[in-house]
Amino acid sequence: MILVTGGAGFIGANFVLDWLAATGEPVVNLDKLTYAGNLENLQALDGDGRHVFVRDDICARPLVDALLARHRPRAIVHFAAESHVDRSIHGPDEFMRTNVEGTFTLLEAARAYWNGLAGTDRDAFRFLHVSTDEVYGSLGPGDPPFAETNPYQPNSPYSASKAAADHLVRAWHHTYGLPVLTTNCSNNYGPYQFPEKLIPLVIANALAGKPLPIYGDGMNVRDWLYVGDHCAAIRAVLAGGRRGETYNIGGWNEMPNLTIVKTICTLLDEMKPDSGGRYERLITFVADRPGHDRRYAIDARKIERELAWRPAETFETGIRKTVHWYLEHQDWVAHVQSGAYREWVQKNYGGRE
Ligand code: NAD
Ligand code: TYD
Repeated sequence: MILVTGGAGFIGANFVLDWLAATGEPVVNLDKLTYAGNLENLQALDGDGRHVFVRDDICARPLVDALLARHRPRAIVHFAAESHVDRSIHGPDEFMRTNVEGTFTLLEAARAYWNGLAGTDRDAFRFLHVSTDEVYGSLGPGDPPFAETNPYQPNSPYSASKAAADHLVRAWHHTYGLPVLTTNCSNNYGPYQFPEKLIPLVIANALAGKPLPIYGDGMNVRDWLYVGDHCAAIRAVLAGGRRGETYNIGGWNEMPNLTIVKTICTLLDEMKPDSGGRYERLITFVADRPGHDRRYAIDARKIERELAWRPAETFETGIRKTVHWYLEHQDWVAHVQSGAYREWVQKNYGGRE
């Protein structure tokens, strides 16, 4: 079996569902269930003995040791993190704790466990650390996309905490020989994404007739990848990635935020027309995010070359599926928009003009 951390969040839940469907191999899922973690994402696995859920904190070393000793996983796939840049600007503390200290705790627990393994179990063990393209900083308009060799230049508290974690993972390989793999992925979108991130926020606000907030001039560029393609890439890296190596994962799909938002509006006009008029009327330019990175883009040639992974979805097919999913799951959105969510919206958007 494998141990997954953060498997009740957006990508983690998609990964657990995808993993069980693709491989059938049991999963122990360690998740603290912060505001971003939601067991409703895993409802399809209710009563499925291949999924063991443990609500706890990756910083709790004795707990992690006990889980490893009891379940003896052949791999750890580490998603658990604080993941939202805007939240990291308002309050970086939890980012340092979970992303840095949590990764350190897992590495130390994994090292002790791996040192106790022998023979093929020891050779086969892997620690796969899921990271982000944001560690590389911001690109200029004509710069080539991020390769694995790019220097690290994180600009936000979030990306700095992820960069710190990546460095720990690298050092645990270099110094102790721990068999690690690191993936740096671009912006994901798809089912179960919490509506604080651009795409689900815009869908939810449009359906509620609320403003669609665009930071700055809307020309910041991200490289969008459908979450199912990210899950397939992680499976490929776990199966065939070389120990100690980093793999960049992206969709070759760079787009300015304004184009993303307009595309969603057009899809909603088609799929759920609003009697009040076209959804684009709700677009509202607001004050920019401090330190807002201008452009991210991924050079995914290494994973394509070494592991024959390629995204299956284009942005057109992926965004259509995503909008459709949110239209079909408005209860899910309503449930996660709790009192705490409303407080966040007030904190992040209340002070913007
Ligand atoms: P998310 O915020 O939706 O989910 C994070 C999960 O981790 C939640 O279920 C939460 O409860 C859990 N968690 C948080 N702190 C914990 C702790 N201390 N102990 C145990 N569990 C804890 O995040 P996501 O978007 O699914 O991202 C998953 C991973 O992928 C993160 O490491 C993130 O940095 C990385 N990543 C995300 C994106 C993206 O576009 N979302 C892109 C590249 C990389
Ligand atoms: P986000 O989904 O927060 O991901 P990240 O900051 O990790 O890339 O934001 C994606 C882009 O959308 C980013 O350039 C910021 C922008 N954005 C807005 O313009 N308005 C919003 O309300 C949000 C949440 C993001």
